[in-house]
Amino acid sequence: MSSRKPIRKAVFPVAGLGTRFLPATKAIPKEMLPIVDRPLIQYAVDEAREAGIEQMIFVTGRGKSAIEDHFDIAFELEKTMSDRGKSLDVLAPTRLGPGNCAYVRQQEPLGLGHAIWCARGIVGDEPFAILLPDELMHGQPGCLAQMVAAYDEVGGNLISVIEVLDEEVSSYGVIAPGAKISQALTEVTGLVEKPKRGDAPSNKIISGRYILQPEVMRTLEDQEKGAGGEIQLTDAMARMIGEQPFHAVTFDGRRFDCGSKTGFVEATLALALEREDMGPEVRRIAERLLAD
Ligand code: UTP
Repeated sequence: MSSRKPIRKAVFPVAGLGTRFLPATKAIPKEMLPIVDRPLIQYAVDEAREAGIEQMIFVTGRGKSAIEDHFDIAFELEKTMSDRGKSLDVLAPTRLGPGNCAYVRQQEPLGLGHAIWCARGIVGDEPFAILLPDELMHGQPGCLAQMVAAYDEVGGNLISVIEVLDEEVSSYGVIAPGAKISQALTEVTGLVEKPKRGDAPSNKIISGRYILQPEVMRTLEDQEKGAGGEIQLTDAMARMIGEQPFHAVTFDGRRFDCGSKTGFVEATLALALEREDMGPEVRRIAERLLAD
């Protein structure tokens, strides 16, 4: 049994504009776009639940009310389905217990760091997780569960990383690795946002899951704007390195960047192919399309 404070809360920043998916995201939040039959946000919430998270904190903005409705009881729908003898099991994952979800508004999309800072009052004085729903982490156990296991070992701050090809590093936040603790766990000595290919300290990129100590909120508070005029979470984390333990967990699984169109299509195809109910048929369709 670990004596560390358990990770009970997770923050889901969902206030971005999703401009890369316009016009689809004009009236629908990007996080509600479905991969097969589950919206992106549902994958992230399921992953958090599996990792033992009790309270889900959504940082929302204008036009994001569909997310609140998704995690609420749809009385008319459920009544009609029950009357018709249909099972409600499919809706079970959309239920969050009373008091187990909180919504806080980021009035302007000033960046990921700013979105996280907007949740400071609800996070309070305890370590917490962050999940970026547009990065779909597909693994067994889930990415956050793998991180919570690592947290039990080393505590402090953790980020999940995956290895990419050297020619891809310049699009991402990259870690400077320190001592290797175990196969999956590495000390982090620095973070570099979008380095040039030759300058990258490693090919391990930050991949949308974090466990952070509450002090990050104070660091974010006096944070200057960074790349793109936004308040960057990476900059705040970089400032904490050296003051607090910081480790990276290499995710044992697959990451899909569903914030990009090709990543979204890749995730759709990969998850559909894996499904027992539709995989064989999707494979036949894909083969037919490729042959054309
Ligand atoms: P992204 O930069 O991938 O999302 O942020 P975006 O800005 O919505 O997308 P594009 O680039 O315009 O297409 C990663 C996550 O952080 C949230 C987003 O909603 C997304 O889930 N985010 C980003 C915020 O909550 N607030 C912000 O100010 C920025």
